[in-house]
Amino acid sequence: MTGDAFGARGELRPGVLGIAGSPRRGGNSDHLLDAILGGVRTVVGEVEAVRLRDYRFESCTGCERCRVDRACTGLRDGMTLLYPSIVASRGLVLVTPVHNYNVSALAKAFIDRCYCFYDFEDPRPGPWSSRLAGQERKAVVAAVAEQPGEEGMGVTLEAMRLPLEALGYEVIDALAVPGMFDRGVVRRHPEVIDRVREAGRLLGTSLLPATGDPR
Ligand SMILES: Cc1cc2nc3c(=O)[nH]c(=O)nc-3n(C[C@H](O)[C@H](O)[C@H](O)COP(=O)(O)O)c2cc1C
Repeated sequence: MTGDAFGARGELRPGVLGIAGSPRRGGNSDHLLDAILGGVRTVVGEVEAVRLRDYRFESCTGCERCRVDRACTGLRDGMTLLYPSIVASRGLVLVTPVHNYNVSALAKAFIDRCYCFYDFEDPRPGPWSSRLAGQERKAVVAAVAEQPGEEGMGVTLEAMRLPLEALGYEVIDALAVPGMFDRGVVRRHPEVIDRVREAGRLLGTSLLPATGDPR
């Protein structure tokens, strides 16, 4: 990936960008993200944690200026700050609470704002490709819900997996964490914390070359 109109900081790094999409401060998504990134950190040093609620940004307006500019130039907001980290990090963790059988509005807005990474051929509708593809990017997605069964999660995991795969990530794990309602209650479930921490460790390991040296 070259440093282009995204304002990329340079070369692609093995680092991991972690995104939590809950509007609830100190909620279960926050703790799950911390646990997953804790696992990543046992293997990869460069880790960045982002709570989307701390950033002011709009959903994609569909202005299509990114088709010409190859960057989101139609909106200048919190996503402008996050694009360089997305581009530069080979690993991505995306955690969301289940809101009405789907990802949170914050997580959906984040995903939609990644539309600027696509190249579309004329005329439209027509073929497309992602400028994040072909770079051995890997992702883990996780969803936390109140209802005890995975059916209460609806389409949430797929709503993250499909767009991340389209962008060029290999989604190596999709973690379902049902049965959690109270703020931060997931911390009282060490079996869950251990499971997601291990998923983070495996993500970190998958980003390293066979020698174990960071690329
Ligand atoms: C607007 C809203 C919609 C929700 N929809 C669902 C749902 O469809 N299924 C479910 O199991 N839980 C649902 N929940 C419960 C949350 O997913 C659950 O409390 C979760 O632990 C919240 O995570 P957080 O603390 O990271 O925000 C909903 C909560 C809110 C606020």
